[in-house]
Order: sequence, then structure tokens, then C-alpha cells
Amino acid sequence: MRLITSLSEIRSLTLDLRKRAAPIGLVPTMGALHEGHLSLVRRAKSDGAALVVSIFVNPTQFGPSEDYTRYPRNLDGDCEALAPFDPEIVFAPKASAMYPEAFETYVTPGNVAERFEGAIRPGHFRGVATVVLKLLNLVALDVVYFGQKDFQQTAVLRRMIADFNLGTRVVICPTVREPDGLALSSRNAYLGPEDRRAAVVLYRSLSRARELFHGGETQADALAAAMRAVLDAEPRAKIDYAAVVRPDTLESPAQITPGCVALVAARVGPARLIDNLILGPAGASDEDLIKLAITSS
Ligand code: PAJ
Repeated sequence: MRLITSLSEIRSLTLDLRKRAAPIGLVPTMGALHEGHLSLVRRAKSDGAALVVSIFVNPTQFGPSEDYTRYPRNLDGDCEALAPFDPEIVFAPKASAMYPEAFETYVTPGNVAERFEGAIRPGHFRGVATVVLKLLNLVALDVVYFGQKDFQQTAVLRRMIADFNLGTRVVICPTVREPDGLALSSRNAYLGPEDRRAAVVLYRSLSRARELFHGGETQADALAAAMRAVLDAEPRAKIDYAAVVRPDTLESPAQITPGCVALVAARVGPARLIDNLILGPAGASDEDLIKLAITSS
């Protein structure tokens, strides 16, 4: 495992690596690694990829009043967590190297980035798309791994990769959850015990939508109202949005069909949390549901 911080080294190293070991898989992260991140790493390994993990808390995807400065950082702990997976390279560039003073060119994602997270966090996906394009250019990779946990992010990035003809293969991995259903997130660290207990309400609201869908409900508004009712019953949760959308454009469908996605975001105490479930046949595996969402796009 080589820890690389230099931009000039990463491309020549990965080009070299590619001559010896294809495919190269990149797992982009902001560090503070947990089992959710490690599930992407595990998947890349089981695909036989030579593994590159990037760790970079990307300033351009945080709003001015967001948690960029207090976002958890622990490069030593992250390297320890990654060691058993034997990555070829951990790429942890400095912000000043990724964004030198003269930097002024950004990716502008389209409509898919305007709603939900994009509406609440203006500029967020511009920052995400920009840094991911830079990473895809810096690392000579074949396949990139993202988590379903950030569903809108996967839609924005898949669109960008297609629109810019990058040819990178995208693998989306299922959301890893705590035993009670709360999706793992670096931001869960902000939750005190009471808020932690309350935070499971996001998953409960999504589960309610899934239950109604399995029972035959196909009206997006009806499912959204049911999700809201679950969230409203938890006084510690302040809802940002609850909706059921098409997996590609994130627009509201006239009728919900398999592969549509229930999305939720809420503030619980000091943390802002997001989660989602793909709707499909009862009993379908997470992997099958992801395939369904991708192919119904
Ligand atoms: P970060 O929040 O660190 O997440 C890195 C990757 O891990 C993302 O693809 C995310 O969806 C995935 N992930 C996070 N929690 C997960 C969970 N509980 N289960 C499965 N996967 C999970 O997302 C980002 O960083 C950044 O926006 C990034 C893409 C790195 C660009 O800066």
C-alpha cells in the first residue's frame, strides 16, 4: 500500500499499474472510513480490481455554513482500516494541490442536480462532479465504485460520466446499515444518544413506503405523505424532503414502477441525514434492486 499525496505521481503510478494489473478500481471517499466505505472496497477487491482509494475532504462540495472544517479527518486510522484490503494506492491529496489559487473551472451538472440535495445545498453537486472528474482524470482507472446511500450523487455522476463520454464503468453498492436500520454515515458521529435513537426514523419512513408499494400503492404522493407522517411523529426529526422519484432524472413519476426510489432527508439534532430505498418486487436483493434502478433509467 503506497500513500500518495502528489498529483504528478498519481497518474504515472496508476498508468504503470495498469500495464501490470487491470482493471484498476477507484473508490473515492472523504475519509473517516466506516463499514459503508469498506463495503465498496470489498466489492472492488472481489471484482479482482487493483484498488486505488482516494481520501479527500473536498472543500468545493461544502456550503459556506456547512461542516467542512469540523468534518472528521483521520488519515492514520483510515490507512489502518484499509490495510487488510491491501490497496495498491491510497491517494490523499492536499486541498491546495487539487485547487491551486488559479483554479476556476467547474462542472455544472444539469436538472438531476437541481432538486432535493441540490436545492438544499446549492453548489454541492457542482463541487462533487468537479472533484470526481478530476479524480477520474488523475487516476488511470477502469471502474469506479459509489454507494447507493447517496442515491442522487450516483445519478448526477452517472449522468456526467455519460455526458462527457468518459467510458468509466460505474458500480453502485448497496447501503450498509446499523442493525436497527440507520444507514452508516460519517455524520452519525455528530449524534448524541437521544438523537441516535431518533435517527432510525428515516429508515422507518422508507420502510413504510416500501410496505405500501408492496401492498399495491403506486401513487408517489400517497407514499410521500405516508413517509412524512412517520417522520412527523418523531419530534427530534426536522424533515427536509420525502419523495418517490424516477431513478435517472429524479422527477416525480405519474405512476410508481419498480426501480423508482424513495428518498428522504431530515435534520436530527446537529446532523443532517439522508437515506433512500429502491422500490421493487418483495424479496428482491439489494443488488437486484440496484440493477432494476439502473436498467429502468
Ligand atoms: P463519502 O461521504 O466519504 O462517501 C464515499 C462513498 O462511500 C460514496 O460513494 C458513498 O455513497 C459511500 N457510502 C457512504 N456511506 C455508505 C453506506 N452506509 N453504505 C454504502 N456506501 C456508503 O460521497 C462522498 O464521500 C463524496 O461526495 C465523494 C464522492 C468522495 C466526492 O468528494
